[in-house]
Amino acid sequence: MDFTLNDEQRQLQQLARDFARREITPIAAEYDRKEELPWQVVEKAFEVGLLNPSIPEHAGGLGLGMFDECLIGEELAYGCMGIYTVLMASELGIAPILIGGTEEQQARFLAPLTEKAGLAAFALSEPGNGSDAAGMATVARDDGDAWILNGAKMWISNGGLAEFNVVFATTDRQGGHKATVALVVPKDAPGFSHNKIKHKMGQRASLTSELVFEDVRVPKENQLGGLGDGFKIAMKTLDKTRVPVAAGSVGIARRAMEESIKYAKEREAFGRPITEFQAIQFKLAEMAMGIETGRLMYQKAAWLVDQGLPHGFESAIAKAYCSEMGFSAANEAIQVHGGYGYVGEYPVEKLLRDVKLNMIYEGTNEIQRVVIARSLLK
Ligand code: CAA
Repeated sequence: MDFTLNDEQRQLQQLARDFARREITPIAAEYDRKEELPWQVVEKAFEVGLLNPSIPEHAGGLGLGMFDECLIGEELAYGCMGIYTVLMASELGIAPILIGGTEEQQARFLAPLTEKAGLAAFALSEPGNGSDAAGMATVARDDGDAWILNGAKMWISNGGLAEFNVVFATTDRQGGHKATVALVVPKDAPGFSHNKIKHKMGQRASLTSELVFEDVRVPKENQLGGLGDGFKIAMKTLDKTRVPVAAGSVGIARRAMEESIKYAKEREAFGRPITEFQAIQFKLAEMAMGIETGRLMYQKAAWLVDQGLPHGFESAIAKAYCSEMGFSAANEAIQVHGGYGYVGEYPVEKLLRDVKLNMIYEGTNEIQRVVIARSLLK
């Protein structure tokens, strides 16, 4: 067992760290306030090779593994979790194509994302349905060489802006998961429309949309896997992509700790810097304990993904543990900052608003516990 990063991984980590410091951190508060996605960051990420790095070499991409993707993720989320979600959710849209798509489909859908800055999106949740993913109401009707799609998807990161959405639908509402399909729907498909969801608590620099499909014709050549494979492709995707959520949560926790250290060194009470009080020291120590254990967990889960070994149990633990740890770190960072932590002048209140979503999206932390417990009891 070896915990050292190799030279390439160290360079990648440094690249992402520099990118976050230069391109993300300085604009994070502004775009959070404006509730606007900073497209220029997507373009710059593309230029330096940090956008969609999992696209395989045969489709013109870098073919990075999950471990490397997570190293990048921790650094970018340190700058802003909302902006990182834009890039992370694109990987979420790419993953089902890597899992369920043929080589021809991978080249057709993913090669264009290697030629210019562009995003992908993953559309599973619906207005009336989230945790019970197999109970979807979006219907795909067979029309010979195409599916006719009707329904709506909700809470879709990058939805509308993405070049394509991987949409999960049912061919028979009584058929459960065995009647589901995964379809790649391009953003210009006639009958497809989208509405931006406004006034989010956090991650406001990421675009979240409702997607509406009205008689959208999707050629069968855009179907990933066979009829009945949709749900399993979605589950296998989430088993992988929950790991970058964990990595991002560690990035948030690290930011919370470093901001707390900086502030506590400057702030004085009772005639000394507050770092001299154990009440503050213990909070910092707790943050460090969470960050170190969380990082080990997400790195283990990512390593399992890259080895092609079972990883659903570990990715669920990593996602739930790291997001709750990140929440606790952000909460304590506000406490260290006192009243100043509660207003936007310091970045810590944003960390709390942002990390809350990590406990909800890509499967609520309650669903992660279902996955963990089922694995223990099977
Ligand atoms: N990998 C492969 N197959 C799996 C699987 C997995 N991880 N989990 C289940 N399956 C298979 C089962 O083996 C079973 O197959 P058979 O019938 O052939 O045996 C089938 O799928 C059905 O499995 P279950 O009966 O266990 O399914 P369930 O209906 O009880 O659901 C669940 C299980 C874990 C609760 C699942 O519904 C789930 O994960 N829900 C949460 C959904 C979610 O994470 N949504 C987030 C959306 S993404 C997002 O947040 C948007 C964004 O923009 C960031």
